[in-house]
Amino acid sequence: MKAKRVPYIVEPEMLRQLAKEKGYLIMAHNYQIPELQRIADFVGDSLQLARQAAETDAEKILFLGVDFMAEMVKALNPEKKVVVPVLCATCPMANSLTEDEIAKAKEKYDAPFVVYVNSTAKTKFLADYLCTSANAVDVVRNVPSDTILFGPDKNLASYVAEKTGKCVIPIPGEFGYCHVHNFVTAEQVLRKLEKYHDAEVMVHPEVPEQVRRLAHFVGSTAQMEKYPMASSSKIFIVVTEVGMVEKLRRLYPDRTFVTIDSMVCYNMKKNNLRNTYRAVLNDAPEVKLDERLAEKIRKLVEDMLKLTVSTQESKK
Ligand code: 13P
Ligand code: SF4
Repeated sequence: MKAKRVPYIVEPEMLRQLAKEKGYLIMAHNYQIPELQRIADFVGDSLQLARQAAETDAEKILFLGVDFMAEMVKALNPEKKVVVPVLCATCPMANSLTEDEIAKAKEKYDAPFVVYVNSTAKTKFLADYLCTSANAVDVVRNVPSDTILFGPDKNLASYVAEKTGKCVIPIPGEFGYCHVHNFVTAEQVLRKLEKYHDAEVMVHPEVPEQVRRLAHFVGSTAQMEKYPMASSSKIFIVVTEVGMVEKLRRLYPDRTFVTIDSMVCYNMKKNNLRNTYRAVLNDAPEVKLDERLAEKIRKLVEDMLKLTVSTQESKK
């Protein structure tokens, strides 16, 4: 079938209206460009997106993020149409862990494998537990073993080890990292602190340990969203992907949020107004997932949500 024509200039309102007419629920990650965040019905971190996907009764979902997140939404909604602007918006860190490396680690250590949600469906298929950056500490704490295989993010593994006191073995190890977060330096943050003396530093746990040491707060993007409410600071240095400040500035118009400008995830930025409009117009490209992998992802998400709820309840 011939693809329908897309106007050269797509205004956010045109896109939103078309998506509504065609019955799409629009879900977006916190790193999407501001124009896409503003037209979305729901904007969140990976954990919130998984929860939302597990609960929605919408028949069609327009997902704005990267492939592993869209796959999770599809796994949780196998009967529904899940459409994305482009199929090439991926996560290089997710793709860095191979089945071979997991098999080798499992052979060497007799330990459960906790997979970070930023991973491929094939990697998840080999995992025992699933976590996101928001609940990695809780999940690992609740896994009945003192030694844990954890991948693919070595920096999140280091944070989890510090918080739980467990022996957390990163796989693939040295080369498992997010290039957006891993290469931020302590010097970049210290320079910002020199300029904004009274600022508080919020970091994502995907940053390296030396940057984490400078943080007043470590958390997922959704957890960063709540932190200013509990703080009296007027200025925050936000050490994660630059898209995150869109929501923060909207939620706290009287505070200042400073970005680290080198922290751009070009994959998240592959989605724009025009290719999103095209996707809605053509109901394509659609996310497809092997049912065997989808079934495993559903089980992992279900267990993860149970584990996270029970941890939150026991903290009350
Ligand atoms: P969050 O789950 O904290 O939104 O993080 C996702 C991500 O891709 C971080 O780089
Ligand atoms: Fe992957 Fe990093 Fe982009 Fe997050 S910011 S999607 S971990 S490449």
